[in-house]
Amino acid sequence: MNHPYHPAPGEVLISADEIATIVARLGREVSRDYDGRVPVLVSLLKGGVVFLADLIRQITIPHHIEFLQVSSYGGSTSSSGRVKILNDLEVSIEGRDVLIVEDVIDTGTTLAYIVDMLRLRHPGSLEICALLRKRVSNPPGIPVRYLGHEIPNRFVVGYGLDYHENFRHLPFVAALDVDPIR
Ligand code: IMP
Ligand code: MG
Repeated sequence: MNHPYHPAPGEVLISADEIATIVARLGREVSRDYDGRVPVLVSLLKGGVVFLADLIRQITIPHHIEFLQVSSYGGSTSSSGRVKILNDLEVSIEGRDVLIVEDVIDTGTTLAYIVDMLRLRHPGSLEICALLRKRVSNPPGIPVRYLGHEIPNRFVVGYGLDYHENFRHLPFVAALDVDPIR
């Protein structure tokens, strides 16, 4: 018997087909802009891993991948504002063209922290590629060079995004209506 999920994901906000179209476009943009260079794509674990896996297969130029794991949520559905490094990059990014690959930008706290931290390592360039960005009243002042899609300010799961580690495997992005734990 399958284990039932509580709560169950609700409305599908972005279908698997729509995601594929978005990721193909982002792959083309990245391939065009970094032509002649070998960028390092820095994927933020764990949520960004499904996006990274699909994105790199749409990129037609040589590139490297790295992983960075930070924690910001601690299991709740609203950002706590705290960021902790759990796993750092394996290589030096000094002088390299770095592209951060992020699943979703909510408050922007996590990204702002990571951008500041990576800048101190003197990359040749540093840009952000985010699959999703929430429409919030106070948008974070982080320039996102490559953006997949804007979504309403709701908690979402699927395509790498989780709620208490569940739902990352869903091939689409769906809303999950839960009471925020603060
Ligand atoms: P921020 O610091 O508020 O921008 O939150 C960024 C991180 O929180 C993302 O990289 C996600 O891992 C997680 N997150 C934010 N919103 C959601 C959501 O709706 N569903 C699942 N995870 C989320
Ligand atoms: Mg994330």
